[in-house]
Amino acid sequence: MIAYEVIAKKRDGESLTKSEIALMIESFLCGSLADYQMAAFLMACYIRGLSDEETFYLTEAMVSSGKRVDLSSVSGFKVDKHSTGGVGDKTTLVVCPLVASLGTIVSKFSGRGLGHTGGTIDKLESVPGFSTKLSIEDLIEQLKRIGIAIASASEEINPADKRLYALRDVTATVSSTPLIASSIMSKKIAAGSERLVLDVKVGPGAFLTDIDEAKKLSRLMLDIAKRAKMRAVAVISRMDEPLGKAAGNSLEVIEATETLKGRGPSDLVELSKVLAARMLSLGGLLTISQAEEAANLALASGAALNKFVELLAAQGGDERAAHDYGLLPRAKEIRGVSLKESGYVTSIDAKAIGLTLVEIGAGRKRAESEIDHSVGVILGKKVGDRVDIGEEIAEVHASNPADAEMARAHIAKAYRVGKKKPLAKGIIIDILE
Ligand code: URA
Repeated sequence: MIAYEVIAKKRDGESLTKSEIALMIESFLCGSLADYQMAAFLMACYIRGLSDEETFYLTEAMVSSGKRVDLSSVSGFKVDKHSTGGVGDKTTLVVCPLVASLGTIVSKFSGRGLGHTGGTIDKLESVPGFSTKLSIEDLIEQLKRIGIAIASASEEINPADKRLYALRDVTATVSSTPLIASSIMSKKIAAGSERLVLDVKVGPGAFLTDIDEAKKLSRLMLDIAKRAKMRAVAVISRMDEPLGKAAGNSLEVIEATETLKGRGPSDLVELSKVLAARMLSLGGLLTISQAEEAANLALASGAALNKFVELLAAQGGDERAAHDYGLLPRAKEIRGVSLKESGYVTSIDAKAIGLTLVEIGAGRKRAESEIDHSVGVILGKKVGDRVDIGEEIAEVHASNPADAEMARAHIAKAYRVGKKKPLAKGIIIDILE
């Protein structure tokens, strides 16, 4: 069978075999299948769906597209985390150093911004000099030395995900349960993870907006983890409004660093502690409450911050940026946003904020676009806060006056205000093991 026929088969809603799925990935990587053909295939998968079996075959084919990291020479208990993506989601920058500061090995392959959501790699690259291009040898050496490494997908490890991710980002094929599951789990299996905490986000700012769909995605990823002999937990968390107050690459690095200094926004702190406790307890050495206590101590003692600084230095970043934020890229135009009404903030449309950020350069409109690390937004008011007419609710960071004005208007529109203070909703929806 040729790749063209596989595309047609999926377009017509038929099931694909293991070898047909492998053929698609192999032909794409060797160049005999063009980007536009793969984009058509992804759209067919998006619309027609993939069975659990097909999703597993796709995951396997993606893992086989590159090398698998063997972490057996690194002693210690290894754990990884991955988020399905949201706006303002900088938990990796908080949680991974925190957990590593307690002696757990964190070997992480992260992604770039996808659709309206940001990516850890883009955030970290706002630190001058920071490199996420690590060879397997460098990664293992760094893990032995400092217990943490954060790398980007490469041609060496899971090149299929690297290329599919970039194509999905610009062809409206991200928010598909099987495509998300295979993308995330192939990265985790290729990275040699033994234990994994998944942060499955649901809400207008995530790729999935329905809780049942988020549970389905969680179960699918947990099932793939089981087949790959990996212990995993899925934390389902709310992504209605952006997480924390900052969205945009260097602004998020600052907020994550502030959180490591004990000055983080409450939703980010709450989610980070839950994820860290789950990561620490996955090995079975600590109960959840012992893990929570250990996480609190690591934050309060400054150990988590020190580990973050060590991570920056180990990967070539200017570690002084953790203390002097002036070393991070800073936008030229900083303008306030206000509303023409008063009351309580009842919702902030995270997706609208994410799309606005892509528009002003914090994310990519085309796979090859360069991003601007300096731009973003700081939300002074979050859901439940009181606002008055004309009061500043947010601050836009843009690279020119036209973008700043456009973003100001869009961000004001993303806010909904009502007379009654909305009931506070916790950030955690469910935890599936
Ligand atoms: N994160 C990933 O790594 N892949 C996806 O498809 C979505 C979020």
